[in-house]
Amino acid sequence: MKVAVIGSGTMGTGIGQVFAQNGYEVYQVDFYTAQLEKSKDIMTKSLSKLHSKGLVDGSPEQILKSVTFTDNISQIHDADMVMEAVFEKLETKSDVLSRISDTVNDKAIIGSNTSSISINKLSKFVKNPERFLGVHFFNPVPIMKLVELVTSEKTDPSKLSDVKKILIGLGKDPVTSQDYPGFISNRILMPLIREAILVFEEHVSNAEDIDKTFRLGMNHPMGPLELADFIGLDVCQDIMEVLYTEYGDPRYKPPIALRNLVLSGKLGRKSGSGFYDYEVKK
Ligand SMILES: NC(=O)c1ccc[n+]([C@@H]2O[C@H](COP(=O)([O-])OP(=O)(O)OC[C@H]3O[C@@H](n4cnc5c(N)ncnc54)[C@H](O)[C@@H]3O)[C@@H](O)[C@H]2O)c1
Repeated sequence: MKVAVIGSGTMGTGIGQVFAQNGYEVYQVDFYTAQLEKSKDIMTKSLSKLHSKGLVDGSPEQILKSVTFTDNISQIHDADMVMEAVFEKLETKSDVLSRISDTVNDKAIIGSNTSSISINKLSKFVKNPERFLGVHFFNPVPIMKLVELVTSEKTDPSKLSDVKKILIGLGKDPVTSQDYPGFISNRILMPLIREAILVFEEHVSNAEDIDKTFRLGMNHPMGPLELADFIGLDVCQDIMEVLYTEYGDPRYKPPIALRNLVLSGKLGRKSGSGFYDYEVKK
């Protein structure tokens, strides 16, 4: 079975890797060639780590032989399943989903990794929308077992069960959600991150103590600001924007401190700084 992943950033790279390490042939697509190189590098390092711990069969070199890194989306024409993981913007996703539909056969399953955009809305850009659904992986994809599955009014239930079986085969443990903005996870998580940013912005406390409160007091493995840096501050802002627009509820409104960090290019771990500074490995 051939799988194509469109968008090779934080999530797309992880999704492609997990399929490849489980024996699938993978097309790993991004419109930036520099991003494809970065994606290959990240996959190589992650696979080496997993291999050295005995968690994947095969060396990174062997596994990467099944991955075709390409900036040419028309190459994916024979894919049986496509996972879209581009920017969390309706205009980007709608364009990419139309291009995917025009390229693959009418039966190929198409999933979107959107964190917050309506699956019903996105389904309008897919030819034969009965084969389309939300397949929301979590970061880092090779480690996190959860996947949220979200159907549109038009999704064929047999496609949902096909995808569930495929995910279980990848070692994932899926949950299902109705098509409400933010589904289960981000509807609950984003107001927490937003409130933590407001506590930081109002100088109620500093980033370290805000995060420590959640690690030591609530037994969270990461505090909300660390988690926001990990997700990507631009991604958090985009998700809050969608939730705020859809629910019209101020508890989802992106805080000014978040906007300012994003505007200054501080996007969290991936850019080297956010609420914290990180060493960016070249
Ligand atoms: N970061 C997270 O923790 C997380 C978790 C779950 C879901 N998501 C969702 O996954 C999706 C991707 O998020 P990410 O964090 O990987 O973002 P990212 O910015 O790291 O990666 C997005 C990639 O898409 C590529 N891209 C954009 N437009 C494209 C196009 N037209 N054709 C080909 N490639 C294109 C970009 O070059 C970039 O490499 C979003 O919908 C996001 O909401 C993110």
